[in-house]
Amino acid sequence: MHFGVDYYPEHWEERRWEEDLLAMRELHFNVVRVGEFAWSRFEPEEGRHDLTWLDRFLSLCATHDLEVMLGVPARNVPAWLMAKDPTVAIQAFEGHRESFGSRYTTCLNNPTLRRRALVLAEKLAAAYGGNPVVTSWHLDNEYGDGSMCYCDNCRVRFIGWLQERYASTEELNKAWGLVFWSLEIRDWDQVWLPAKINRFPHSPGLLLDFRRFYSWITEEFVEAQVAAIRKHSSSKPVTTNLQSMTRFHTDYHRLAKSLDVASMNFYPPESYTTADLDIVRGTTGRTFWVVEQKSGPPGFAHPGFLTPRPGETRLYTYTSIAHGADAVLYFRFRPCPYGQEQFHMGIMNYDGSKNRIFREIGKIGEELTRVSAAIEGTVVRNDVAFLYSYENRWALEQYYVHPELEYRSFFLNYYREFERRHIGVDVVNPHADLSAYRLVVVPLLCLMDDATVRGIAEYVRHGGHLLYTARSGVKDTNNNVVPTIIPPILKQVLGIGIDEAFALKPGQKNRIVTTGGGEYQVSTWIDLVRPEGAEVLGRYADDWYRDSAAVTRHRYGKGLAYYIGTIPEGRYLETELSSILAGAGIASVLECPRSVWALRRTGPQGDVIFALNPTGGTETVPLRGRRFRDVLDGSEINGELELGPYGVRVLAV
Ligand code: GAL
Repeated sequence: MHFGVDYYPEHWEERRWEEDLLAMRELHFNVVRVGEFAWSRFEPEEGRHDLTWLDRFLSLCATHDLEVMLGVPARNVPAWLMAKDPTVAIQAFEGHRESFGSRYTTCLNNPTLRRRALVLAEKLAAAYGGNPVVTSWHLDNEYGDGSMCYCDNCRVRFIGWLQERYASTEELNKAWGLVFWSLEIRDWDQVWLPAKINRFPHSPGLLLDFRRFYSWITEEFVEAQVAAIRKHSSSKPVTTNLQSMTRFHTDYHRLAKSLDVASMNFYPPESYTTADLDIVRGTTGRTFWVVEQKSGPPGFAHPGFLTPRPGETRLYTYTSIAHGADAVLYFRFRPCPYGQEQFHMGIMNYDGSKNRIFREIGKIGEELTRVSAAIEGTVVRNDVAFLYSYENRWALEQYYVHPELEYRSFFLNYYREFERRHIGVDVVNPHADLSAYRLVVVPLLCLMDDATVRGIAEYVRHGGHLLYTARSGVKDTNNNVVPTIIPPILKQVLGIGIDEAFALKPGQKNRIVTTGGGEYQVSTWIDLVRPEGAEVLGRYADDWYRDSAAVTRHRYGKGLAYYIGTIPEGRYLETELSSILAGAGIASVLECPRSVWALRRTGPQGDVIFALNPTGGTETVPLRGRRFRDVLDGSEINGELELGPYGVRVLAV
């Protein structure tokens, strides 16, 4: 297991380095990530690369037995590059050029930037490809963050991208429906970018394709960066920190194809959720690295979120591991008194003295020497898959049918019910092989392509159980509405049609009554479901559509497909999910109170279960006759398990 920290040697005087590295060793760190923002030091003037300071830093790391994950900068360019070509700066949605002076303000389509960034990647790889201290490469930082660009370079490349996709402008007109409002084009040069318009929106087809194009720019650039590195470093893993659910200009399922390992940042509980960990694991389907784990409260121009309470850093470190992280690196080592993150705290104090977090992390480091051995070679494998797609998210956020039908919160409402029941979830690309799953959840997957539709149908036909929510499949890949609302093949799978589909006013409610006698409030969206072979499990109770079907179940092939045509209150899933899970043969990892998390990693030597208490109170888990070995102290556990505030237990099965 990799355990370490993000460090910026360029921020500190060289005489401080050794003391810091010694402190890292005291914490049991074995890896340090450096360099992702250091272009101005790697290449102080165009073509004059200076890596002597890095050489000195790397030799010190070697002396102290620390491996280095080396950053390969790209989007945060030095001032000389901006001066050489001011069109490196993004042309913003509003029309102005972004100023130099912060981060992520540059355009990856700019030829000067691309050329210089790839030269730098190759230089670094040539210098350190054979250096044993450098054991992995970290590309730039947070691809997918920053604004989109609307410059001429982007327009020219967008046209080229469209020409690859559409045989003629007629085909493009048709796909985007440009006859609407007289927007048809007759010449490729008439293609425009969806920059700011004061009132009405751009065409849905254009908006979605521009997002796809913008993601492709990053995917394509990352591929080029990897190729530049591979010229001199053929086997060291290449990674970068993906932004899971919090930023989404980039389709990380596609980007991850260029990476050996997916990485991410994790700043819980405020800005990241546990679902983010599963989303990033889902980009490759393998274990992943957390390269920025929160250690102190983040802070930019203002102090940020709350400082971790005693025990919280430990809790969230194990949370990352339990969800499949094979590396945890904390951000950051020491707060920097200057610069844009001057209020961002870390493992040490401003003056370099050790603080409470330092002591807590020292304890984690000591424990991990035992935990690493137990999780070595283990993977995360779950029975439940949630389908997740970036294209869908783009489509939904551009054109939405209700302000409260928001993808992230909708997804999390479903996800959290599984988490509270201690059922692990894989969050997968809709094109993933679904055959190994017992249950597939399709939460608000508005936009589907034919392959997804066929994949879901085949999965159910072969015996899979499906939980399909309202508004899934209502759009095709051109971002146009599917005339039957649900794609015809999936209508057969679900055994239903939709008679009418409409929004409720914000705050407006109805009720559904289930065949089992349950009664629940519903809001936001109403599908009036017409059973075409499906059994009705719930009907609306009020208003003019009273008694119309809302929830159904249908046997298709060897499988079973549920449809939930409205947005029920939380209590609905809390109660009704039980029979769906029982029918699919899905059991919890460990039966615990709902506020506790329990997750499993599976391996050849047996399973490891993580019981995590994210609350500030004490929780007790009755073990109901099960016996475990405590990985941390080797003791046998039976009877019950106590979890103090933010407590963690690691159990070998
Ligand atoms: C991350 C970023 C870091 C640092 C950190 C602050 O998103 O990658 O460079 O800015 O946030 O919390």
